[in-house]
Amino acid sequence: MKITFYGHASLGIKVNDIYILVDPFITANPKASKIHTESLKADYILLTHAHQDHILDVEAIAKRTNAVIVSNFEIVSHFEKLGMEGHPMNLGGQWDFEFGNLKYVNAIHTSSFPDGSYGGQPGGFVIEGEHKNIYIAGDTALTMDMKLIPLQTKLDLAILPIGDNFTMGIEDAILASDFIECDKVLGYHYDTFGYIEIDHEEAKRKFYEKGKDLMLLEIGESIEL
Ligand code: NI
Ligand code: MN
Repeated sequence: MKITFYGHASLGIKVNDIYILVDPFITANPKASKIHTESLKADYILLTHAHQDHILDVEAIAKRTNAVIVSNFEIVSHFEKLGMEGHPMNLGGQWDFEFGNLKYVNAIHTSSFPDGSYGGQPGGFVIEGEHKNIYIAGDTALTMDMKLIPLQTKLDLAILPIGDNFTMGIEDAILASDFIECDKVLGYHYDTFGYIEIDHEEAKRKFYEKGKDLMLLEIGESIEL
């Protein structure tokens, strides 16, 4: 499994020959100007919630690639009305996709579309694929529900928001890492705009002091699991 950071909360995940894109918000992110959405591959697009900083580039990419949009019922219905293909889910549900098993899990956040219309409940994803298991938390507060995840899944990597203000910050992300029993964390949802700027070295040190590993990737950089 290969994971690429496209800035903010946007990720590319490659499992065998299948390309997954998560929460594409690239064209309006000046920090991600070297990422060209026209050349991104996508068989599936996973969306954690309906906020603009998670769905901005979905329409253009999905229309070009015919990717299947996987998210909550309301978000998938929204994109199906625009002519795209989707797989609707809701919280607590899981499905065996060709890239592995995916469960749509709780997040504590909101989920309106940019025009204010209802975007269902926000969520995160637990993916069990190719002998590697990952958790993509989405935008969320620290929540006790995270303790449910290790009851069923031994995680190899957790992708957690760390920018604070709109989501968990560093201290809560460290507690989340305890709750999900995964000490290997990839941070996201930081630095994109003023409210969520963080001190990288301080963040890494705080994780390190608790015996944990916080990875912060350059935009466009990948890790292999
Ligand atoms: Ni959000
Ligand atoms: Mn967000």
